[in-house]
Order: sequence, then structure tokens, then C-alpha cells
Amino acid sequence: MKISIVGTGYVGLVSGTCFADVGITVTCVDVNEKKINALKKGIIPIYEPGLETMVHNNIEKGRLLFTTSLKEAIEQSEVVFIAVGTPPDEDGSADLKYVLDVARQIGKHMDHYMVIVTKSTVPIGTAKKVKAAITDELEKRGVELDFDVASNPEFLKEGNAIQDFLKPDRIVVGTESEKAQKMMSRLYKPFLLNGHPIIFMDIPSAEMTKYAANAMLATKISFINDMANLCEIVGADISSVRDGIGSDSRIGNKFIYAGAGYGGSCFPKDVKAVIKTAADYGYKLRVLQAVEDVNDAQKHVLVSKIKEHFGSNLSQMTFALWGLSFKPKTDDMREAPALVIIDELIKMGASIKAYDPVAMDEAKRILGDKIFYGDDPYDVLIDADALVVITEWPEFRIPNFKVIDKLVKNKVIFDGRNIYDPNEMVENGFSYYSIGRKA
Ligand code: UGA
Repeated sequence: MKISIVGTGYVGLVSGTCFADVGITVTCVDVNEKKINALKKGIIPIYEPGLETMVHNNIEKGRLLFTTSLKEAIEQSEVVFIAVGTPPDEDGSADLKYVLDVARQIGKHMDHYMVIVTKSTVPIGTAKKVKAAITDELEKRGVELDFDVASNPEFLKEGNAIQDFLKPDRIVVGTESEKAQKMMSRLYKPFLLNGHPIIFMDIPSAEMTKYAANAMLATKISFINDMANLCEIVGADISSVRDGIGSDSRIGNKFIYAGAGYGGSCFPKDVKAVIKTAADYGYKLRVLQAVEDVNDAQKHVLVSKIKEHFGSNLSQMTFALWGLSFKPKTDDMREAPALVIIDELIKMGASIKAYDPVAMDEAKRILGDKIFYGDDPYDVLIDADALVVITEWPEFRIPNFKVIDKLVKNKVIFDGRNIYDPNEMVENGFSYYSIGRKA
């Protein structure tokens, strides 16, 4: 089977590589020539555990090809995935420019039946627009060709994307024809061997599923963060509350960890986009608006604790930051709580020394010389006034507290991810601030 994937960003590259890994011939297309040349040599533009090795292996086996020519890529493809970016507009809605450009290109060059699949997270109604754009181009050419569109949202988590793709909880596909359904079943068969389902539905439902999934997950996080804040006020402990509610299987104990707020390229963007889509149809998504408001506020909670301890004037003070990426196992800093925290601390006169296991280059690109960068976690503690933990990287979980004690000026830790035991911290003589727990 031969397929092509347009867009070699995060979704496109991971999907293409995983399809190639099960024996499908995949051609990945991108307009960025530099990126394609690097990819041909096996150099990948993103950090994702295991991906580079997999790209190498599949290039060597001749199953993973890269090109800047969409025409060439789709020549023998049975399925074409559109996985280009949909950056948010100023008003929060997803910009479909790139998706529809690709659709037009496909219409210009298509010469046989294909299923054209939207894989990027796109607003409800996009597949219809893709279909219209292709039809329009075919009409311009005076060509009559049978084709189908489908919506196949992805549910990859950064840092765990390969496992998520190879062993998906489910595959969701929105189609309009049996022919397309059969094609998609054949394509995904290798990934469904361990009993995970492929769920077929109509196209708007598939498009909606993606937003509903991310909206639900974001809601869980804002809900638990709201509860955590209340726990602090009433003297309860969010970890115990989480155990208490999570053991009810209807609630579950996964993905309800309180923290410094959710970030990344998905939840913030998708929550905004679905609120905007609803508003366009004259409907107000009140729960999601609250989810977003709680999250915006949550990114400031650690700074409030810093103010509570040190006061509002932080000039002459230096804070050591552990973790910059929006979550562990990625170098992605989009919408990361760290950015809000750094911004606020600097505004209050403080200096920042930061360390992240993989996001240092990305941080330098975004923050430049606004902050200082350390070589390792302990390096940033030298002469710092306090430690602030923002991302729960494994290497921060069991640090040497004696060394921390020796290096930082004050025995104070602000923990935005609840990774240390409050009792142990107090026993060790630290002033310890975390989210929703009793210190
Ligand atoms: C998210 C979804 O989890 C994926 O299923 C989806 O495919 C993806 O978006 C997407 O739309 O492409 P991702 O953004 O990579 O994946 O990251 P998550 O692991 O979901 O974490 C998102 C944020 O929530 C992080 O900032 C994390 O720190 C925060 N979080 C997560 C919490 O604060 N508490 C939790 O209990 C879990």
C-alpha cells in the first residue's frame, strides 16, 4: 500500500514514520526544502523519544521517502493525509489557509481515486471545505474523478507519540462512503491487532470528537486545579482528595493531577478554537470558558506563593527554575506555564537561572538573554534565593536535598507539580510550597 502525508510537523512525521514501520510505503511532503533535505538524511526537526531511530530504519528500508513535490508524492498514493499546521488566528479560531492550499494542490494534480484525509486538528466543517476546494480544482481542469474525503483526528501525546500511534486506544474515522471506510480499515489493520477499535462515524462527528476529547481532558485539569486551590483555603489535601475520588472508576485517577496549569500546542489552542466555533454558531460554551479562565489564573499561582513568602519586591533576588517545557519528555515550550512565571518574576525585579533537560535550545530561542541558563540542575542553584520547580522531569524527582540546602540562599522550594513529599520537606527544614497540599 502506498500513501502520502503532507506536512512534516509533529503529527505528520510521527504518523508517516509509524505507517512506514508496519510496511506501508509513505512519502512525506513539505514545502520547506531545508527540512526535507535534513529528513532525507534522517535528521528530525523535533524532539520525540525514539523517533529519530525509527526514521533512520525506515529510510534505510526504502519505505519512508521525503519530497517537496506534492505532485510526485500523490502519483501512486491511495490515501493522502493532510497534516499541515492550523495556527490560531488572533480571535482564537484555527487558520485553515495551509489545509485548503494543500487541498487545491491535490485537486490540481490528482489523476486517480484517492481518499483525502484531514489529520490536523481542524474546525468542524473543514473536510467539507477540503472537498469543495478539490472539486473546484477538478472542475477548472475539466476532469471528472471519483474521490473521498475523511476525517481522522490524531490523539498523540508529545513525548509518548510513537506508543500512542502504534498502540492507540482507538482510531476515529469520519467517512461518507463504504469505499473510503474499507480503505481506512485496511490501512489501520496493523495497529488494531491488540483489540483496540476503529470507530467509524460521520465526518462532523469525527471532527467534533477531537475537540471534545481535548476539551474533556482540559476540563479535568482545570477542575482539579480549582479543587486544589479550595483545598488550600479549607485545609484539605488535594492528593488525598484525588485518591478519594479517583478510586471511583467513573471518575478515574488518571489525568487529574493538580499543577501550575496546562500548556502545550493542543489544549490551549483547541479549547480556544472550540469556544470560538460555538460562538460562531451563536452558542456559548460556558464550561469550557471557565476551564480556560481557571487555567489562565493557575499559571500565576506559583508566583502568588512566591509573593506570599518574599513580598512583591523581588529586586536583587535570583530564582532557580527547574523545567521550562510545558511537560516532561518534550522540548516544546508553547503556552508553557514557565513563560508566564518567568515574565512575572522579571517584572517584579527578579533574575532567573533556569535548567531544563532538553528545552534549553528552545528556551534560548524564545527568551534569549532575558534569563541565565545553567548546565545542570545544581548549577542554577548557586547563589539563587529559592528553587522553583515547574516541570516534573524524572531527574528532578529525587534530588539531593543536602546539596540544594548548601547551594540556595534560603531553604525554600516552590513546587508547581507536587513532586516532593510535604512532610519530608518540612522534616528537612525546608519552607515548602506546592499546589493544593498541606506543607
Ligand atoms: C494532548 C492530549 O493528551 C492528546 O491526547 C492529544 O492528541 C494532543 O493533546 C493533541 O491534541 O495533539 P499533549 O498536549 O501532548 O497531548 O500533552 P498532555 O500530556 O495531554 O499534557 C497537556 C498539559 O496538561 C501539560 O501541560 C500537562 O502538564 C498538563 N497536565 C496533564 C496536568 O496539569 N495535569 C494532569 O493530570 C495531566
